[in-house]
Amino acid sequence: MSDAEADARPRPRLLPLLEARAVSRTYDDGAVRALKDVSFTIAPGEYVAIMGPSGSGKSTLLNLLGALDHPSEGEIRFEGQSLCGRTDLDRFRARTIGFVFQSFHLLPTLTALENVQIPMFEGPLDRRSRVRKAEELLCLVGLSHRLKHVPQKLSVGERQRVAIARALANDPLMLLADEPTGNLDSRAGADVLDLFDRLHRERGVTLVVITHGAEVAARAERTIWIRDGQIDLLQMPGGAVTRCAV
Ligand SMILES: Nc1ncnc2c1ncn2[C@@H]1O[C@H](COP(=O)(O)OP(=O)(O)O)[C@@H](O)[C@H]1O
Ligand SMILES: [Mg+2]
Repeated sequence: MSDAEADARPRPRLLPLLEARAVSRTYDDGAVRALKDVSFTIAPGEYVAIMGPSGSGKSTLLNLLGALDHPSEGEIRFEGQSLCGRTDLDRFRARTIGFVFQSFHLLPTLTALENVQIPMFEGPLDRRSRVRKAEELLCLVGLSHRLKHVPQKLSVGERQRVAIARALANDPLMLLADEPTGNLDSRAGADVLDLFDRLHRERGVTLVVITHGAEVAARAERTIWIRDGQIDLLQMPGGAVTRCAV
């Protein structure tokens, strides 16, 4: 079956959306073991926080979950299908995942409206539809009055909300966010978290959010704690916490 045919199949409901199976990632020819034998699943529609000290492997893990990187051992599965053998990862990412980063990654010379359209260029929308959709998304994140502003003319909180609108450009099933409130003051951070709550509740978006902050984890349905590249504590759906690392 081709990947396009696989995409067109009805989505199985009981499968996890994402699964990490015995995933390890080393760097520098094995000198750095950033992740060691990590396994967990994320169900469709869940809101999961990933916490852990700096250097514990959180960003490495998020990059693997988002198919931006490949495990050294083990595999990431999406809806039961391994990402290892897929030849269309660019298309998979563009259609399925929205990324939000700590430092926004907006293009400085483009307006908010133009930044949000960037992921749409690969898709089917014509110019007019792209602009309309970008306007709707900027309205959704509370920035309908900032359409023509370049990033430098926006507050950092507004920049992050533009980045979130851009992450939603292709109606992704899930958002992967790496310390999304790390550069924001507490007020702007709370606005971003309110927005995540709405996306989760009203649109059913699956959220995986890396954070240092307890206030982010408090909003999530469950938390996975990472230490030294291993899962330290794993909170299951329903709340029970399992200690994993020895
Ligand atoms: N590209 C890389 N090359 C070498 N080492 C890396 C690379 N990326 C991350 N590391 C190392 O892997 C470990 C985990 O890093 P990272 O996933 O960025 O942690 P966190 O996001 O939790 O701060 C750290 O020791 C870091 O120095
Ligand atoms: Mg990191």
